[in-house]
Amino acid sequence: MEHLVDGRTAPQPIADIFAGEQQRISTLKVNAHQLIPLEREVSVITDERASRRIVEKHFDMLVGGTVHNMRGLLTPIRHNVEELSALAKSGAIDKRKLGQHARAIVTRLADLEQFLDDMRAYAQPIPTQRRRERLIDLVREAADAARAYFEALGHDAAAIELRFRVPESLSVEVARHQVLSVFTNLLRNAFEAFRPIQDETGPFWIAVSATLDIDQVHILIEDNGVGFGEDDLRQIREFIPGNKTMKHDGTGFGLPTARRYIEGHGGSLDIDSQIQAGTRVRIVLPI
Ligand SMILES: Nc1ncnc2c1ncn2[C@@H]1O[C@H](COP(=O)(O)OP(=O)(O)O)[C@@H](O)[C@H]1O
Ligand SMILES: [Mg+2]
Repeated sequence: MEHLVDGRTAPQPIADIFAGEQQRISTLKVNAHQLIPLEREVSVITDERASRRIVEKHFDMLVGGTVHNMRGLLTPIRHNVEELSALAKSGAIDKRKLGQHARAIVTRLADLEQFLDDMRAYAQPIPTQRRRERLIDLVREAADAARAYFEALGHDAAAIELRFRVPESLSVEVARHQVLSVFTNLLRNAFEAFRPIQDETGPFWIAVSATLDIDQVHILIEDNGVGFGEDDLRQIREFIPGNKTMKHDGTGFGLPTARRYIEGHGGSLDIDSQIQAGTRVRIVLPI
């Protein structure tokens, strides 16, 4: 900078200032450019952290639910075994009591086995081999199985009307066993939805309908059973095993497993329900 005779500095020529600013701007541009990959890296790390947090949350809930369920089964087993051992110690042979405790243990062990089977089914990978199946055949077979389960529990299925609106021409390419188990589970839930209202007068119905939409099949499984409210729906829609709205012998693996299997086929599954009105499960499957 030039110094004038009276000590003041001469104004810097505009061109110099301009050149200096341009230099600074281009340095900033270079720096900003270097920041872009860094920013991407940071967002990948943040995404990874977020996904890990979600996975950890699901894992915690799964473990928490599993421990809770296992405890619920093991505690009565332990209680009955202790009673049996007290009976043995006392030397009194009370056949009725012996039978009672033994039956209680057998029932709980069966529940425990069911729980382990459901857990395995949830974790099982879906076979990549697919076969073309007629949708109505899968639905009918699943409905028969669901009805049989319901009746085996001592309930009367006669008052529940089954309505199928599935075009005979519709077929899907699927891993048969898995998709059959999805429909069976959903229809079992639908039958079970009439358990709390069996003494009321109907009509009681379960409806399965399907429509083709370009390259997808939309399937609805609906019932006018007991349904459930918004808070339950929010929980059920997390599709984390163990969530149940009714106190009954289920394990809470049905819906989460169904959703996994359907997503494994490139499809989607969602549920909607209204208390005292009924429930609707919507499945979309590529054909
Ligand atoms: N169609 C339905 N009507 C009423 N409640 C249902 C229906 N489907 C599912 N639910 C509720 O959602 C819960 C979870 O269902 P699911 O995952 O199949 O487990 P589970 O049948 O072993 O209890 C059930 O316990 C039940 O309370
Ligand atoms: Mg179920």
